[in-house]
Amino acid sequence: MAFKDGFLWGGATAANQCEGAWNIYGKGPSTADVMTAGDTKTPRRITDTVLEGENYPSHTAIDHYGHFKEDIALFAEMGFKCYRMSINWSRIFPNGDDEVPNEIGLKHYDDVFDECRKYGIEPLVTISHYETPLGFQKYGFWTNRKMVDFYLKYCATIFNRYKGKVKYWLTFNEINCMSMMPWMAGGVDNNADEQTRMTAAYHQFIASAKAVQLAHEIDKENKVGMMYGGMFSYPNSCDPEDMQANTDFMHQMLFYCDVQCRGYYPSYKLKEFERKGIVLPIEDGDSDILKKGKVDFLSYSYYFTLVCGKNTEAVAIDCGSMNTGYTNPFLPKTPWGWTIDPKGLRYSLNMFYERYQIPLMIVENGLGTYDKVEKDGSIHDLYRIDYLREHIKEMKKAVEIDGVDLMGYTPWGCIDIVSAGTGEMRKRYGFIYVDVDDEGHGTYQRSKKDSFYWYKKVIESNGEDL
Ligand code: BG6
Repeated sequence: MAFKDGFLWGGATAANQCEGAWNIYGKGPSTADVMTAGDTKTPRRITDTVLEGENYPSHTAIDHYGHFKEDIALFAEMGFKCYRMSINWSRIFPNGDDEVPNEIGLKHYDDVFDECRKYGIEPLVTISHYETPLGFQKYGFWTNRKMVDFYLKYCATIFNRYKGKVKYWLTFNEINCMSMMPWMAGGVDNNADEQTRMTAAYHQFIASAKAVQLAHEIDKENKVGMMYGGMFSYPNSCDPEDMQANTDFMHQMLFYCDVQCRGYYPSYKLKEFERKGIVLPIEDGDSDILKKGKVDFLSYSYYFTLVCGKNTEAVAIDCGSMNTGYTNPFLPKTPWGWTIDPKGLRYSLNMFYERYQIPLMIVENGLGTYDKVEKDGSIHDLYRIDYLREHIKEMKKAVEIDGVDLMGYTPWGCIDIVSAGTGEMRKRYGFIYVDVDDEGHGTYQRSKKDSFYWYKKVIESNGEDL
């Protein structure tokens, strides 16, 4: 058997994309709550406040807040061992800098974790997943070092409260998004210059490193991981210049992992800062904090791969749209233009395991696409089954043939949720269909797609029956 006993099979969601209930039960607004819906041609807009007549998908999402018992019961029916979810920071600290946390919010997650535990499902909690309390606007969000203390206070609150209920934590979702989509990563202006982004990223590194130490102090059972947004690229050709361009591109992304897994900035990044005149806001004792706050494991999302070459100067700028200027003629694409590259998953697992030699986990993977509901209510999503099957096969090779230490696999949007990139509902990933459209209209009823039954079988057989 390829996958070890206790392999964490499950699924993943994020609070802002599924909960809804955005301004009730004491929850304050977050950066996600001022992002309008868009589509592949219309980017999501960020409004200063919530405006009348705009469509903000996070406000109702799929109302997981009101349906969590039903949803977790469905996850349990599929045999989930793990549910990756996130805590909505502004449900706990509505304004961010509140003196005391919101008890209704804390109680809600108690209920969610208890429900998971009832079925033997291990929660894996992302502490900050693309939503930062909007109240931090007055501080300049993560550009301000004060955020480290606010974040730590939030961490102390949830680590203490959920001690014994949660042991797997991720500090920041896709932390490398600070280079691409800084608003989502932490409330930083999407047009901010590199100095600003690197300052914000630095503060998040310090916050994450302190959180790792705090989690270990509060409960030695705690395991804290980093989360990398799966950017992987191939050189456009075997021209050495393409290879160098590709290395340069990957450095833009991989330094986030280097800092969190090794505990210090890599030399290539420090040299780049020197050349560009970027100065990190280092305070006394910081290098020790980074060193002592190395993560226990590395988790990442894996959806596609990119291609880079010598003519792609725009690479780092344009990667927000997942486009490096070259297309890969060997790979098909989803209707949203994301390449489908199962083999790249094995390659990425090897790359990380060789680089860091720490346990890895795939915490997002999946096919976001249109689903058709038949007259009898069934949904024959064989394309999704194919996609996932091919990726699991490659994951298996990485474990069985290459000896990678893989902790688990939680495909994205195990239940249909709002797309982070476009704000659409029609871009569906789930094993479970939710009857709600892009405008938030629908019955919110849940139903099982064909992939639901298939994934149940996969988990039951520990990945043998694909
Ligand atoms: C990851 C994010 O980048 O990709 C998720 O962590 C997101 O929040 C997922 O939903 C899929 O992207 P999208 O744009 O299809 O929702």
